Amino acid sequence: MKLYLAPIQGMTNAFYRNMYKELFGGIDVYYAPFISTSSVRRIGKSVFKDIMLENNRDDIEVVPQLLGNNGEDFKYYAELITQLGYREINWNIGCPYATVARKKKGSGILPYADMVDKVLDEACKGDYDITVKMRLGYEDLDEGFEVMDVLNKYPLKGVMIHGRTGIQKYEGTVDLDAFEALYKTCKHTMTYNGDIFTVDDFNRIQKRFPDIDQFMLGRGALRDPFLPAAIKGHTISDDEKVKMIQHFHDSVFNDFKQILSGDKHLCDKMKEFWTYLLVNTDPDGKLTKKLKKVRTEADYLQVVHQIFSQDKVWHG
Ligand SMILES: Cc1cc2nc3c(=O)[nH]c(=O)nc-3n(C[C@H](O)[C@H](O)[C@H](O)COP(=O)(O)O)c2cc1C
Repeated sequence: MKLYLAPIQGMTNAFYRNMYKELFGGIDVYYAPFISTSSVRRIGKSVFKDIMLENNRDDIEVVPQLLGNNGEDFKYYAELITQLGYREINWNIGCPYATVARKKKGSGILPYADMVDKVLDEACKGDYDITVKMRLGYEDLDEGFEVMDVLNKYPLKGVMIHGRTGIQKYEGTVDLDAFEALYKTCKHTMTYNGDIFTVDDFNRIQKRFPDIDQFMLGRGALRDPFLPAAIKGHTISDDEKVKMIQHFHDSVFNDFKQILSGDKHLCDKMKEFWTYLLVNTDPDGKLTKKLKKVRTEADYLQVVHQIFSQDKVWHG
């Protein structure tokens, strides 16, 4: 059984992944947040910074991801990425955000199976492996079935399905019946994605889909970084957990501090970081409320101090 870290744009960047790997482990492959393709052929170095091997640990397996709806652009970017030392390129046709979907990218391409066909027809001419990360459809499952018919024509290395439609964004729950119906029509290696927040969630989903051997965790792995290892049977004492989260926080904080300018940007980013971790440790929402108000680095660090001095167990 393999566990993959789902890409979370703006959060699971290289240093986040590196620290995650060093401290928590449990993840076999880290999928990097998307890089948007464009028709411009002079691509600045910064576009690939996150996936440059020198910015990623030697012992970490990372898969770069592309977002776009043009096969030539995909191939162009994918070939450059291959030159950096990668073999697998993941195509994002699941992103639900309106700004993306409106342009028929991400999940916005799902109603247009012919467009998916056209992209893959060109993209599959390159010397690399393609995996595809999708949703059930943009509006409904029928779109997903049509897209799957197309995906089945190409020699893909695998398909990941998140069990919601695009318009659903992250609302409600994953639709396991719809996921099952779609996955049964897929001839490629399937990876399950969606709403694995606890070991019990994982066990339930694994039991329901015994033929699936790959599971991708996003928010669940960010809310409880011990979850992937716990799924694999490794447990850690609560004292250790607090120390590890503190180390994780301090490292990620220092890295974000170096790349973001000004207290506001830094505070906003770290608030985002805590939106995941505080889900399990701030049930009454008091710390979240305090965190929301901070505007300066000094105030922020004070709240962080309070978070780590609470007499509460760090649990998933
Ligand atoms: C803030 C945010 C950013 C995301 N960025 C990406 C991304 O860059 N590429 C991608 O394929 N999915 C992205 N996703 C979707 C996740 O990879 C994942 O599919 C989704 O969160 C469902 O899995 P989960 O229920 O385990 O979180 C993002 C999700 C969130 C919440």
